[in-house]
Amino acid sequence: MTNTSATDPTARMRTVRFESFGGPSVLDVADVAVPGPQPGQLTIDVEYAGVNFAEVMFRRGQFPVDLPHFPGLEAVGTVRAVGDGVTGFTPGERVAALTLGGGGNAEVVAVGAEHVVRLDGELAGLDGAVAAGALCNVTTALGVLTSAGHLAAGETVVVLAAAGGVGTAAAQLARSLGAATVIGVTSSPAKAEYARAYGYDSVVSYDEIEQEVADRTGGAGADLVLDSVGGAFRSSVTGLLAAFGRHAVFGNAAAEDVTFEGNHPWYTNTSLVGYNLGGVAGRAPELLRAHLEQALTHVAKGTVRVDVKVVPLKDVAHAHELLETRASTGKYVLDVRA
Ligand SMILES: NC(=O)c1ccc[n+]([C@@H]2O[C@H](COP(=O)([O-])OP(=O)(O)OC[C@H]3O[C@@H](n4cnc5c(N)ncnc54)[C@H](OP(=O)(O)O)[C@@H]3O)[C@@H](O)[C@H]2O)c1
Repeated sequence: MTNTSATDPTARMRTVRFESFGGPSVLDVADVAVPGPQPGQLTIDVEYAGVNFAEVMFRRGQFPVDLPHFPGLEAVGTVRAVGDGVTGFTPGERVAALTLGGGGNAEVVAVGAEHVVRLDGELAGLDGAVAAGALCNVTTALGVLTSAGHLAAGETVVVLAAAGGVGTAAAQLARSLGAATVIGVTSSPAKAEYARAYGYDSVVSYDEIEQEVADRTGGAGADLVLDSVGGAFRSSVTGLLAAFGRHAVFGNAAAEDVTFEGNHPWYTNTSLVGYNLGGVAGRAPELLRAHLEQALTHVAKGTVRVDVKVVPLKDVAHAHELLETRASTGKYVLDVRA
């Protein structure tokens, strides 16, 4: 049943928006009409909303998105109104949601109920900002390690961008999934120092990783490399892998790709595997839902620690800038009410 007071057609809200592609300065905080829930959706009064590297890519035009675009792939708050056909949610309940259609960096977001998790039961104690920081990153880390990467106990995992949102989650999850050795890679000693607190056996630079893997595996190579970085480094990942090792590609922060030939897996005894959150939502929605719930449970139980830096909504461009210039560690979350 729709809460009519919450679907006032004259209600206004603040939302992050960009009307052209470009640097962080194209982001502004706009005043727009509050959305109502479509059938199958609910709306959320957002308290905290995460900032993801994917939004940096959307903003700079690396992916085709319609303009104006309203960023925001995850949000935490309370149910505002429930659309037709949605059962099991009540206005006022605390919820966390993947808002993969965008719009999460706003005071109100409309989202399909299938991507909304109630923060009750064992999730009741979850801090709102931490939950917002966990939604995309921890779910992705779990999906890359398991469904894409098929991590097995005793294996060696290498995580590129080790100090980032996904990277810090991936190291902790790899540990809890039984990896024997987890090696991180970062672009600076300060980031390496930061990342070491997240369960890595060692964290080294991109120049040092080949030697580090050789030393730690007796020359055998790593079983799984998590590559969200792309660029020229992507070509060298095969050289880090053991026989039948997996190169898991799930991002392209460098905005520069490489080409692999079809014969590459045959010649190298390796696999190239991929993971895309939006793709999983479309093709394996139950799996995504399961990973989303597991991810939040890991955080609630403390198996995965998410380091959030909370900034007011108006500082969204600053958060983008830090992510884009490789100056960020952990996760930036917007306090939408500030
Ligand atoms: N496939 C999916 O469904 C999915 C879902 C979520 C995230 N992702 C991807 O996973 C990655 C991590 O996401 P996140 O939000 O947690 O970001 P993040 O890791 O906190 O930040 C991105 C990191 O990428 C590294 N990087 C390497 N080359 C870069 C370059 N040329 N420019 C900027 N950064 C560069 C940087 O770490 P160093 O400086 O240490 O190298 C940077 O800190 C992103 O690439 C994102 O697109 C994919």
